[in-house]
This record gives sequence, structure tokens and C-alpha cells, in this order.
Amino acid sequence: MKLFAVFGNPIKHSQSPIIHNLFAKQTGILQNYTKIYVPINNFYEKIFYFFKNGGIGANITTPFKKEAYKFCNIITTRAKYAGVVNTIKITNSKKFLGDNTDGIGLLKDLQNLKFINSTSNILLIGAGGAAQGIIYPLIKFGCNITVINRTYQNAKNIVEYFNNIKKINCLKLEDLFINLDNTIKYNLIINATSSSIKGNIPNIPSSIINQDVFCYDLFYNIKITPFLKWCINHGAKKISDGIGMLIEQAAYSFYLWHGIMPNTKIIIQKYKKYN
Ligand code: ATR
Repeated sequence: MKLFAVFGNPIKHSQSPIIHNLFAKQTGILQNYTKIYVPINNFYEKIFYFFKNGGIGANITTPFKKEAYKFCNIITTRAKYAGVVNTIKITNSKKFLGDNTDGIGLLKDLQNLKFINSTSNILLIGAGGAAQGIIYPLIKFGCNITVINRTYQNAKNIVEYFNNIKKINCLKLEDLFINLDNTIKYNLIINATSSSIKGNIPNIPSSIINQDVFCYDLFYNIKITPFLKWCINHGAKKISDGIGMLIEQAAYSFYLWHGIMPNTKIIIQKYKKYN
């Protein structure tokens, strides 16, 4: 049986085994996909042990994605720009290939939802690891991105990081509040801050929300996220949390390992029923 696993800390609540088992069932692939809890200073030890003992592919989650990047011998372009690795595959020549499927998973979900096209103006809230992980596929798709962040310097840093691929704008929070009837209209607002984890919402003006704006939260929960609730309260009609992204990023990992793309639409519907 082919061995796969997700590595993280904490790991108890990871949905990856459920999703990958649904993919395996659907495609008729026999695999064993488990969760592996990794003590904070033990990542290299655990991952080496796994691949030494027959592991074929791994997903890496918080807080080990940077260490996974350092661990790999070969890095895909999208993982290079993300700066972190969430998927590892052992190659035929026993090299570790590191990929990042978060950004492409998000793009696919946004396409499924019809929230995006190649000329979309996106307001990206947040400038941490989650934001960096999704920018590359979005700009490659053609979208214009404006980054807004609580700490302006972090927004500037992220914009500079992608400067050689495409010009991304960044705005000070105050500017977004001042330019209330500005000429830029955002088609899509993505919350990539970690504020939802603590039940908070980023500080943005409600004037940018209306019934035509798509609002997406990378975060997901059984209940509606605080950010999406706030969007609805200010007139948004088209909203989504990150559950579809979670399934799509898993599908791209599955594809890297098996060369088969699962039918994610069925899985997203099924998965939503489980929750
Ligand atoms: P992640 O890897 O999940 O992106 P991170 O690198 O710690 O986590 O970044 C968290 C992001 O959420 C940052 O953009 C952070 O803003 P700062 O750069 O100002 O720290 C943002 N963030 C976290 N809590 C927030 C809050 N309550 N309001 C607004 N932004 C918040």
C-alpha cells in the first residue's frame, strides 16, 4: 500500500486524511494516508523517517512549511514564490520535490465559484505567510492585486518581493478609508489575515462592500467566519470561506503524487454535507 501523510502541530483536526481518502476512493487508488504529529523541534527527524520507511508523498502544515522548503532538493516555481512548501514527493531518483498547492487551489476554487476572471481587481487583506502563498498564481492568471495590511511595512515588503513578476500595489489603511469614492473598484476582496482565528476582523471600511463584490475568507470554520459575517452585514451577497480552497489544494497534491486529478466538485459537495 502506498504511504502518504500530513505532518503538523497541532494535527488532530486536520481534514486532509478525510479528503485524500475520498479522492482515493473516487479514483480507485489504494493508499494509506495518515496524520503525523510532529514535536516542534523534530520535523527533519520525522520526515526523514517517513520517507526512509516507504513514504511516497507528504503534506506539510503549520508550523513546518518553511522547514519543509529547506528540506527539499527541488522546489517548484510556485513554491519558490510562496517561500514555503505544503506538498513533498519523493522522485524516482530519490530526491525530495517541494511544491506549494495553496495558491493554485485558491485560484481553482475562485474559478469554480465564478468569483474571478483574468482582469479582476483584487483587494488582498494581509501580508503574512498566507498572503505570500497565494499571490503568484493570481498574478500569473492576470489579476491586479492591491495589498492592504495593518502594518504597512509588511505590505510594502510583500509587494517588493513580487515586483519582478508584476507590479502589485499596496495601500495604507488610512488611504482606503480616505478614498471612499475612489476610482478603483475591487471585484474581489480576500481576507488572508489570521484575524479570524481569534474571532476578530481586519479593520477595513465598509464602503468597499456592496452586493456585487465577491468576498472570500481563506479561513474556514463550521460556522460563518467573523469576516464574512461582517461582509454580509454590510451588503455582500457573494461570499465564500476557504473550504473549497482546502479541497482544491489537496487535489493538486494528489495530482502531483498520482498524476490523476480528482473530481473536486463532487467532493466539495460531499464534504460540505459532512460539516
Ligand atoms: P499567516 O502565516 O497565517 O499569514 P502571519 O505571517 O503571522 O500568519 O501573518 C498574519 C497576517 O494577519 C498579517 O498580515 C497580520 O498583520 P500584521 O502584518 O500587521 O501583523 C494580519 N493580522 C493578524 N491579526 C490581525 C488583526 N486582528 N487585524 C488585522 N490584521 C491582522
